[in-house]
Amino acid sequence: MERIAIYPGSFDPPTNGHIDMVERGLKIFDKIIVAILINPSKKSLFTVEERKEMFKASLKNCPNIEIDFFEGLLVDYVVKKKAHVVIRGLRAVSDFEYEFQLAMMNRKLNREIQTVFLMTGLRWVYISSSIVKEAASFGADVSSMVPESVNKMLIKKYS
Ligand code: PNS
Repeated sequence: MERIAIYPGSFDPPTNGHIDMVERGLKIFDKIIVAILINPSKKSLFTVEERKEMFKASLKNCPNIEIDFFEGLLVDYVVKKKAHVVIRGLRAVSDFEYEFQLAMMNRKLNREIQTVFLMTGLRWVYISSSIVKEAASFGADVSSMVPESVNKMLIKKYS
Protein backbone atom coordinates (compact mmCIF):
# COMPACT_ATOMS: atom_id res chain seq x y z
CA MET A 1 0.00 0.00 0.00
CA GLU A 2 1.32 3.43 -0.97
CA ARG A 3 2.12 5.53 2.11
CA ILE A 4 0.67 8.96 1.40
CA ALA A 5 1.12 11.92 3.75
CA ILE A 6 -0.66 15.25 3.57
CA TYR A 7 1.43 18.33 4.34
CA PRO A 8 -1.13 21.11 4.97
CA GLY A 9 -0.52 24.79 5.54
CA SER A 10 -1.06 28.37 4.49
CA PHE A 11 2.34 28.62 2.79
CA ASP A 12 2.01 32.38 2.24
CA PRO A 13 4.69 32.09 0.88
CA PRO A 14 6.59 28.77 0.98
CA THR A 15 9.99 29.08 2.71
CA ASN A 16 13.12 26.94 2.71
CA GLY A 17 11.78 25.43 5.94
CA HIS A 18 8.70 24.14 4.10
CA ILE A 19 10.83 22.70 1.28
CA ASP A 20 13.05 21.02 3.87
CA MET A 21 9.96 19.45 5.43
CA VAL A 22 8.82 18.01 2.11
CA GLU A 23 12.28 16.57 1.45
CA ARG A 24 12.39 15.00 4.93
CA GLY A 25 8.86 13.66 4.50
CA LEU A 26 9.82 11.94 1.26
CA LYS A 27 12.39 9.87 3.17
CA ILE A 28 9.54 8.34 5.17
CA PHE A 29 6.53 8.39 2.84
CA ASP A 30 6.04 7.26 -0.76
CA LYS A 31 4.14 10.39 -1.69
CA ILE A 32 3.59 13.82 -0.15
CA ILE A 33 0.60 15.94 -1.01
CA VAL A 34 1.22 19.59 -0.22
CA ALA A 35 -2.24 20.94 0.62
CA ILE A 36 -2.61 24.72 0.50
CA LEU A 37 -5.51 26.00 2.61
CA ILE A 38 -8.05 28.15 0.77
CA ASN A 39 -9.08 30.61 3.48
CA PRO A 40 -10.91 33.67 2.11
CA SER A 41 -11.30 35.13 5.61
CA LYS A 42 -7.52 35.37 6.10
CA LYS A 43 -5.74 38.23 4.35
CA SER A 44 -2.88 36.77 2.36
CA LEU A 45 -0.08 38.27 0.28
CA PHE A 46 -0.17 35.63 -2.44
CA THR A 47 -3.11 33.96 -4.13
CA VAL A 48 -3.37 30.20 -3.70
CA GLU A 49 -2.47 29.79 -7.39
CA GLU A 50 0.69 31.86 -6.88
CA ARG A 51 1.60 29.77 -3.85
CA LYS A 52 1.08 26.59 -5.86
CA GLU A 53 3.29 27.87 -8.70
CA MET A 54 6.05 28.90 -6.27
CA PHE A 55 5.97 25.46 -4.62
CA LYS A 56 5.99 23.74 -8.01
CA ALA A 57 9.03 25.71 -9.16
CA SER A 58 10.88 24.97 -5.91
CA LEU A 59 10.15 21.25 -5.96
CA LYS A 60 10.63 20.55 -9.66
CA ASN A 61 13.34 17.95 -9.01
CA CYS A 62 11.31 16.17 -6.35
CA PRO A 63 9.44 13.04 -7.45
CA ASN A 64 6.24 11.83 -5.81
CA ILE A 65 4.90 15.24 -4.94
CA GLU A 66 1.43 16.61 -5.58
CA ILE A 67 0.51 20.22 -4.88
CA ASP A 68 -3.15 20.82 -4.25
CA PHE A 69 -5.62 23.14 -2.52
CA PHE A 70 -8.19 22.35 0.12
CA GLU A 71 -10.97 24.13 1.97
CA GLY A 72 -13.02 23.09 4.95
CA LEU A 73 -11.85 20.51 7.45
CA LEU A 74 -8.39 19.05 7.01
CA VAL A 75 -9.54 15.58 8.15
CA ASP A 76 -12.17 15.51 5.38
CA TYR A 77 -9.52 16.36 2.80
CA VAL A 78 -7.21 13.62 4.16
CA VAL A 79 -10.00 11.06 3.74
CA LYS A 80 -10.79 12.36 0.24
CA LYS A 81 -7.15 11.81 -0.77
CA LYS A 82 -7.21 8.28 0.75
CA ALA A 83 -4.37 9.19 3.13
CA HIS A 84 -3.96 8.45 6.85
CA VAL A 85 -1.14 10.78 7.85
CA VAL A 86 -0.73 14.52 8.30
CA ILE A 87 2.77 15.90 8.61
CA ARG A 88 3.56 19.12 10.39
CA GLY A 89 6.86 20.81 11.10
CA LEU A 90 8.08 21.74 14.55
CA ARG A 91 10.67 24.48 14.86
CA ALA A 92 10.79 25.60 18.47
CA VAL A 93 8.93 24.72 21.67
CA SER A 94 6.68 27.71 20.97
CA ASP A 95 5.15 25.81 18.02
CA PHE A 96 4.17 22.93 20.24
CA GLU A 97 1.09 24.31 21.96
CA TYR A 98 -0.78 25.14 18.75
CA GLU A 99 0.39 21.99 16.98
CA PHE A 100 -0.67 19.83 19.93
CA GLN A 101 -4.13 21.40 19.93
CA LEU A 102 -4.49 20.98 16.17
CA ALA A 103 -3.35 17.34 16.27
CA MET A 104 -5.68 16.51 19.18
CA MET A 105 -8.65 18.19 17.51
CA ASN A 106 -7.97 16.34 14.27
CA ARG A 107 -7.70 13.06 16.21
CA LYS A 108 -11.02 13.77 17.91
CA LEU A 109 -12.60 14.42 14.51
CA ASN A 110 -11.12 11.31 12.91
CA ARG A 111 -9.28 8.65 14.92
CA GLU A 112 -7.92 6.96 11.79
CA ILE A 113 -5.68 9.90 10.95
CA GLN A 114 -2.27 10.23 12.58
CA THR A 115 -0.24 13.43 12.86
CA VAL A 116 3.50 13.03 12.41
CA PHE A 117 5.81 15.84 13.48
CA LEU A 118 9.09 16.40 11.72
CA MET A 119 11.79 18.75 12.94
CA THR A 120 13.00 21.30 10.45
CA GLY A 121 16.73 21.66 9.80
CA LEU A 122 18.52 23.84 12.34
CA ARG A 123 19.21 26.40 9.59
CA TRP A 124 15.50 27.09 9.24
CA VAL A 125 14.27 27.09 12.84
CA TYR A 126 13.83 30.86 13.02
CA ILE A 127 12.12 31.19 9.65
CA SER A 128 8.39 31.62 9.14
CA SER A 129 6.37 32.95 6.24
CA SER A 130 5.35 35.96 8.34
CA ILE A 131 8.85 37.01 9.38
CA VAL A 132 10.14 36.58 5.82
CA LYS A 133 7.29 38.76 4.51
CA GLU A 134 7.95 41.41 7.11
CA ALA A 135 11.67 41.57 6.33
CA ALA A 136 11.04 41.58 2.56
CA SER A 137 8.45 44.36 2.92
CA PHE A 138 11.19 46.60 4.32
CA GLY A 139 13.55 45.72 1.48
CA ALA A 140 15.67 43.09 3.29
CA ASP A 141 17.42 40.41 1.27
CA VAL A 142 15.66 37.13 2.14
CA SER A 143 17.16 35.13 -0.72
CA SER A 144 18.87 32.70 1.67
CA MET A 145 15.58 31.91 3.41
CA VAL A 146 13.23 31.20 0.54
CA PRO A 147 13.41 29.38 -2.80
CA GLU A 148 14.44 31.49 -5.81
CA SER A 149 10.92 31.56 -7.25
CA VAL A 150 9.59 32.96 -3.96
CA ASN A 151 12.33 35.55 -3.68
CA LYS A 152 11.48 36.83 -7.17
CA MET A 153 7.80 37.05 -6.31
CA LEU A 154 8.49 38.86 -3.02
CA ILE A 155 10.64 41.44 -4.82
CA LYS A 156 7.87 41.90 -7.40
CA LYS A 157 5.16 42.30 -4.74
CA TYR A 158 7.10 44.78 -2.66
CA SER A 159 8.77 46.81 -5.39
O1 PNS B 1 0.41 27.03 7.92
P1 PNS B 1 -0.66 27.09 8.97
O2 PNS B 1 -1.49 28.34 8.81
O3 PNS B 1 -0.12 26.93 10.36
O4 PNS B 1 -1.63 25.84 8.70
C1 PNS B 1 -2.78 25.61 9.50
C2 PNS B 1 -3.70 24.55 8.88
C3 PNS B 1 -4.01 24.89 7.44
C4 PNS B 1 -3.03 23.21 8.94
C5 PNS B 1 -5.00 24.52 9.73
O5 PNS B 1 -5.47 25.81 9.92
C6 PNS B 1 -6.11 23.67 9.10
O6 PNS B 1 -5.99 22.48 8.98
N1 PNS B 1 -7.21 24.35 8.67
C7 PNS B 1 -8.35 23.72 8.06
C8 PNS B 1 -9.57 23.66 9.01
C9 PNS B 1 -9.33 22.58 10.04
O7 PNS B 1 -9.44 21.42 9.76
N2 PNS B 1 -8.94 23.01 11.29
C10 PNS B 1 -8.54 22.13 12.37
C11 PNS B 1 -9.66 21.46 13.10
S1 PNS B 1 -10.99 22.52 13.56
